[in-house]
Amino acid sequence: MKSLNVILSLAVFILLGIAAVEHQPNDKFKNLQVLPKDITEDSLDKIMDRFTVDLGVDCKYCHERDKKADSLIFESDNKPEKEIARKMMLMTADLNKNYFQFNEEVNAAQVQAVTCFTCHKGTQIPEKEKKVVKNSPFSIQRN
Ligand code: HEC
Ligand code: HEC
Repeated sequence: MKSLNVILSLAVFILLGIAAVEHQPNDKFKNLQVLPKDITEDSLDKIMDRFTVDLGVDCKYCHERDKKADSLIFESDNKPEKEIARKMMLMTADLNKNYFQFNEEVNAAQVQAVTCFTCHKGTQIPEKEKKVVKNSPFSIQRN
């Protein structure tokens, strides 16, 4: 009975230990204002990689370069592109949340109907004019 108690309290101790590790706030990232502050490194990396593909740029397009150290200062807000990107993130999330929740079973996180790529198509500034007018914009033509 004694040893069972020891095992049980040990199990509780281990579980609490794991919980404590998992709930420790992520102190890796210093200046997140839009993304959740406790986002995992893996998730943040995926999002940043998407930005580079969707806009056809590399990391230094939004992130300030420390020329002496030849590295990027990711937490710095000195490049205006970064602040614009924050606004664009909010806008994109807003579009998905408020205009694409067609029923209660589907939430915005699952749909992501609109992404950076929807408008940017791999470029920094989306085209404003249609290059080739194929269909009349005033009728839905499907075949
Ligand atoms: C289109 C602009 C853009 C591009 C390109 C981009 N980022 Fe970011 N990045 C941001 C924005 C905006 C934030 C801040 C998000 C927030 O405030 O929640 C950020 C935050 C970060 C952070 C967290 C910094 C901190 O400590 O607060 C890291 C690390 C990071 N980016 C790495 C990268 C890497 C690596 C790449 C290239 C693969 C990259 N980023 C490409 C816009 C960009
Ligand atoms: C609904 C369409 C749309 C979506 C979605 C969108 N953007 Fe944009 N974005 C634009 C337009 C249009 C411009 C150009 C505005 C202008 O003419 O100055 C722009 C400009 C930008 C710029 C500044 C480009 C420059 O060099 O001046 C950045 C950075 C940017 N977007 C990042 C993003 C990121 C990151 C996302 C995804 C989170 C995103 N955008 C999603 C339409 C969009």
